[in-house]
Amino acid sequence: MSANTSSAKIVLLPGDGIGPEVIAEAELLLRDLAGNCGIALDLQTALIGGAAIDATGEPLPDETLAVCRQADAILLGAVGGPKWSDPKAAKRPEQGLLKIRKELGLYANLRPVRVHSKLVDASPLKAEYLEGVDLMVVRELTGGSYFGEKQEGDDFASDSCSYSREEIERVVIKAGHIARERNGMLTMIDKANVLATSRLWRRITAQIMQEHFSDVHYEFMLVDAAAMYLISNPARFDVIVTENMFGDILTDEASMLVGSLGMLPSASLGTGKFGLYEPIHGSAPDIAGKGIANPFGMLASVAMMFDYSLGMKETAQHIERVLSECIESAECTQDLGGRLTTCEAGAAVRKRLLAYDHSRCANG
Ligand code: NAD
Ligand code: IPM
Ligand code: MN
Repeated sequence: MSANTSSAKIVLLPGDGIGPEVIAEAELLLRDLAGNCGIALDLQTALIGGAAIDATGEPLPDETLAVCRQADAILLGAVGGPKWSDPKAAKRPEQGLLKIRKELGLYANLRPVRVHSKLVDASPLKAEYLEGVDLMVVRELTGGSYFGEKQEGDDFASDSCSYSREEIERVVIKAGHIARERNGMLTMIDKANVLATSRLWRRITAQIMQEHFSDVHYEFMLVDAAAMYLISNPARFDVIVTENMFGDILTDEASMLVGSLGMLPSASLGTGKFGLYEPIHGSAPDIAGKGIANPFGMLASVAMMFDYSLGMKETAQHIERVLSECIESAECTQDLGGRLTTCEAGAAVRKRLLAYDHSRCANG
């Protein structure tokens, strides 16, 4: 909680496309929890992405960064869209997202992937491959080619990929702790047969695991094979740790195990409890404005916020349980085979949440 107050300060960053549509459901859920559950929340909304470029000329205005620095947690919808996608544009919405992650030191992006038994038909994979799938991807978020030196000309372009020992150590340590709390198995995914950075990741991962996590089994896997195993034997994974871009790509792939990209939440963490929470999907321009976006990845991100940043595990579990119940009862959007709109799906979640005995979920 922020200093001198028991209310949690949460900044909402709706962004673009379906971002505002899913954030609206997160906000309604938070307001319901605040009103009915005795949870003190202080909500503030700020600009990011294309909406911020339109309003201020900057994808991450200074005012946004300033309010975020004062917050206990941030909820983000999504940024980007065709309006701002001109390759020649000087400012891009995505720069705002990368900058906020970097400025706030959010180096570890946790992306849990859990298959709900009711959703096996929503996945393109056969049911037998989906049984027992419950994995956590820890994606390095503030290094690698995303942040390396770039050159961009008409006839030549380059993106350099670099990692320092410190950048690798801290995220591997985070992943090691998570693996210890889960099933004690860590897979580090890289391209060590080609990339120097990957070979450094291997050396440092081995050192960290041997020195600090002798109780956790670890292995290395090349990213091309990992992409295949994620489809052919996803249940073999417990915790995955990997560099920025591999983590980005593999988690969109992994979303198909669950049935929809709209289902996966994430938590971006640094040192301490502060975090930024967002679904892993983008602004989905193809469905924006239609009221059909799946809000569950966003709402599951709210659950992660209660757990990691606000220290309210029970509330997090309530939200997760209710999301599962909605899925069980087919109270969901069409990407999962349901018939509900974004608003109706959000309302179904809130209705079930309020039916719980909330005497057990207040702060402290
Ligand atoms: P996308 O994730 O926006 O969409 C990919 C596909 O998944 C689309 O068919 C979309 O309709 C579907 N989808 C995504 N979220 C959904 C949801 N909640 N419910 C139902 N269907 C959903 O990826 P894209 O189209 O490649 O990118 C669009 C824009 O979003 C780009 O500008 C990209 O840079 C940006 N983006 C932003 C973030 C972010 O803000 N964190 C993440 C990824 C992409
Ligand atoms: C994500 C997105 C972003 C990323 C883009 C929009 C910069 O794909 O959050 O997964 O690649 O990190
Ligand atoms: Mn992505």
